[in-house]
Amino acid sequence: MAGLGNVVNPLTPDAPAAAVWPSTPEGVAQAAQRWRAGELVAFPTETVYGLGADATQDAAVAKVFAAKGRPSDHPLIVHVASAQDLPAFVREVPPAVARLVTHAWPGPLTLILPRRPGVAQAAAGGQDSVGVRCPSHPVAQALLRAAQTLGVAGVAGPSANRFGRVSPTRAQHVWQEFNGEVPVVDGGDCEVGIESTIVDATRGALVILRPGHYTAAQLSEWAGEPVLAQDALSQAAPKASGTLASHYAPQARVRLWPRERLMALVTEGATPPPEVAVWSPDPSPAGWLGPWRIQPQDPHDCARVLFATLRELDASGVREIWVSEVPEGEAWAGVADRLRRAAA
Ligand code: TXA
Ligand code: MG
Repeated sequence: MAGLGNVVNPLTPDAPAAAVWPSTPEGVAQAAQRWRAGELVAFPTETVYGLGADATQDAAVAKVFAAKGRPSDHPLIVHVASAQDLPAFVREVPPAVARLVTHAWPGPLTLILPRRPGVAQAAAGGQDSVGVRCPSHPVAQALLRAAQTLGVAGVAGPSANRFGRVSPTRAQHVWQEFNGEVPVVDGGDCEVGIESTIVDATRGALVILRPGHYTAAQLSEWAGEPVLAQDALSQAAPKASGTLASHYAPQARVRLWPRERLMALVTEGATPPPEVAVWSPDPSPAGWLGPWRIQPQDPHDCARVLFATLRELDASGVREIWVSEVPEGEAWAGVADRLRRAAA
């Protein structure tokens, strides 16, 4: 990963046009104008940072795919300011989805719904469905509302990382991903830390395509009908990059170990410590020389620091990152999913 030594401090007044912008009213207005003009601006959400463009301008959306290096048939999700904006992109909202939205929006939930014909075709990667999300981050809300007043009904926004890489959870990560070429509005560290839960509402039953902050049980209660966990998916899901086996991968090889096995391995000192970084709930054994981070034992705390920890350990130049498996159970599904993919 590129060091930061040769990067101009993005917050200095004479920084280049593409920079880290503060979330002041001026920064927000500037970002909204840029979206209106068909340009890219990365933005904070409560989950991860997004790489935003006006969802209804196909040329702007094409810039998103190009910057990410993502195949243009992998659909983007559209961010809206409120549930009232759904009809602009969506043909129909089933009652269970309306109930879900009442409880979970704004928040880390994306819904796949039938797309309104002729709208956001490129953003949807040509699918006749569209993913819509209403983020709760106050800066995201301010940006979406400012954009709306300029006529931008929704902002297409994949995670602001290059294709297949770890999602960014702070403005500086976005700066590093795109070598400072895409401006990013700074909203601080993301609270949730892993991407939104995706629920597909186009299959008859509601199905989780990507686990996240919310459990299936919580979502089912809100929807008033069962929301099926991801492994209930029998047929192949539509293309979703976040569902590819190898995704969210750092450069170093990530290896997952059962917690006790990991501790046994590092205590035996089988591998030269400087080559290996560890993320474990247990403290490092005496004499351990490599990077070592403590893995939080609460699933939300763990999710919050997951990607930043992988980035940081990756940047330390190790060959392998050894990670303790997280506990079983629904509350850990999002973290377990991202770790599995990082290790694939
Ligand atoms: O938390 C998030 O969802 C973040 C922030 C920025 O909002 N965004 C995000 O976007 O993770 P992205 O593009 O990295 O992941 C969205 C996932 C992709 O795997 C995409 O393929 C899937 O949603 N997706 C989008 N539209 C879809 C559709 N119509 N049908 C099936 N999957 C869809
Ligand atoms: Mg992504």
